[in-house]
Amino acid sequence: MFKKRRREEELFDLLEEGVVRVDGRLRITHANRFACRVLEREKGELIKKRMDRLFHPLLECGAQLLNRARCEKTAVKGSFERRGPFELEASFGSCKRGVLLIRDRSDQRQAVEMGKAFVANASHELKTPITVIKGFAETLQDLPEISREMLSQITQKIVQNAERMEKLVRGLLILAGLERRSSLQLERRKLSQLVENCRHMLFPLFPDAEVVLRSPEIGVSLSCDADLLELALFNLLENAARYSSPPARIEVEIESQEEGVLLRVSDRGAGIAADDLKRIFERFYTADKARSRAFGGAGLGLSIVKTIVEKHEGKIFVESEINKGTRFTLHFPLL
Ligand SMILES: Nc1ncnc2c1ncn2[C@@H]1O[C@H](COP(=O)(O)OP(=O)(O)OP(=O)(O)O)[C@@H](O)[C@H]1O
Ligand SMILES: [Mg+2]
Repeated sequence: MFKKRRREEELFDLLEEGVVRVDGRLRITHANRFACRVLEREKGELIKKRMDRLFHPLLECGAQLLNRARCEKTAVKGSFERRGPFELEASFGSCKRGVLLIRDRSDQRQAVEMGKAFVANASHELKTPITVIKGFAETLQDLPEISREMLSQITQKIVQNAERMEKLVRGLLILAGLERRSSLQLERRKLSQLVENCRHMLFPLFPDAEVVLRSPEIGVSLSCDADLLELALFNLLENAARYSSPPARIEVEIESQEEGVLLRVSDRGAGIAADDLKRIFERFYTADKARSRAFGGAGLGLSIVKTIVEKHEGKIFVESEINKGTRFTLHFPLL
């Protein structure tokens, strides 16, 4: 009997939630490791003590919930925000024994906060082009008799801002799609082929950019989701061209290593300051807002790249020096 109970307590100690058991007088009969950590008390300081007399705010709240659970004969939920947030759940069994569960909800809150910040940022980014489009459209409405030159300037602004909005929405949809996606469409592809495809996609946007491929071995291949990897690589090439004075010189290196494959994209462009470097993978972060805006960028490209690399269980690193250039290194394990 004694052995069985000890085994049971050992199992409770493995749980990532707090379990505090009490008798009919709310005396603590057992508290698992997680509960002791949250309550900042040793097991010995809790056992055999009445929960409502320990002068601990979380336990006082727990005791009230247990009393309610006993009266209402049902499980009762509550929350404890100080030093939390914690979710509490109290139940009382017919054999005069109660249990209080303590769940740490800080991760969940963080996710909610991040979601809120994301929606706020996305709305803000969308609001600017909408305001511009509306303003110019109203000008056209109010001034039907305007010169061809002015008409062309105004319509150009409308088209530019509509394109910016379109790009932003496309980026947001890609990110949302990536988050929903639990598995990748893996196929073995030659990385040099993906680089070649990206080079073709870059040409209409930056015709004078030079993309040089260096690979010690020809035909290095990787099991990857080719569409996604191509999108990641294209974003890196686009940034390298966009943040260099033309003509951009971009170098792509592919290297096969024992534990995986390495892909490097280097440029000799504007570089990124150390303070910005820490934040460039955040959504909507742009180091030089004016320059990004001029190209219709919203600061989503690198967060898309990072998400794609991580979906492949890979890692991304960046090194940069102002006015010297930037190098992104992607490391993929063999999947
Ligand atoms: N190769 C690079 N050289 C210099 N700065 C860079 C480079 N790549 C990224 N950056 C900086 O990092 C910021 C974030 O890049 P990211 O690709 O996420 O956004 P963006 O290029 O501004 O917009 P988007 O990619 O959504 O069109 C950029 O605004 C730019 O300031
Ligand atoms: Mg970009």
